[in-house]
Amino acid sequence: MNRSVLIREYIQSTFVQESDAHKKILSASHKEGLPQIQVPSSVGKLLYLITKLQNPKRILEIGTLAGYSTEWIRQAAPEAAIITIEPNPLHAKLARAHHPTLTVIEEDALITLKRFSEKQETFDLIFLDANKQAYSQYLPLLLTISKPGTLILSDNLIPREEEINNPDPKDPFATSVYAFNQSLASDPRLETILIPTIIGSNGRLDALGLSIVK
Ligand code: DHB
Ligand code: MG
Repeated sequence: MNRSVLIREYIQSTFVQESDAHKKILSASHKEGLPQIQVPSSVGKLLYLITKLQNPKRILEIGTLAGYSTEWIRQAAPEAAIITIEPNPLHAKLARAHHPTLTVIEEDALITLKRFSEKQETFDLIFLDANKQAYSQYLPLLLTISKPGTLILSDNLIPREEEINNPDPKDPFATSVYAFNQSLASDPRLETILIPTIIGSNGRLDALGLSIVK
């Protein structure tokens, strides 16, 4: 194992305890052959602690998979209303099976976000962990459904296998993520930092964005 994987193992074994609910979600998503791209438990615990600090009443998650990160957030804010967007029917079905009180909206997030924006819905906490190619299109909509104090958490802000902040223009994934980062950095309504994260089986460095809406 390389050093990043060892560091993550150390952090997880020392500071992270998954609940039975987390374990059930992981085993179901494994059994159903979902991509194993949920946040590592170390990032799950980070989401949990940030959520606890904020005590949000209304939470929006964009990109559910089987609801593993949702479970970390739910446990930190058991009274909150949580809406999650997941266009894949199998993923949405698994998420519903594991979260009876969760609202799972099964459609492309851009459509949902446009509707929420028109209806002037607002959220206290938004966790973005969806289609990276669309991140740069999501941001203006996220700002319209935010209010002062809204937290926007964004997963995977350092694309893999790319020169840092100099993506191949033909790579729509990395181009979108770096454009998103640039918008986070320059938008006068946001204060942002990226928190490095260790993800995947070989422990690559990625980052979780933490933004506060002014
Ligand atoms: C991967 C990781 C993620 O956290 C994600 O949201 C999508 C993909 C990955 O490692 O490929
Ligand atoms: Mg992710």
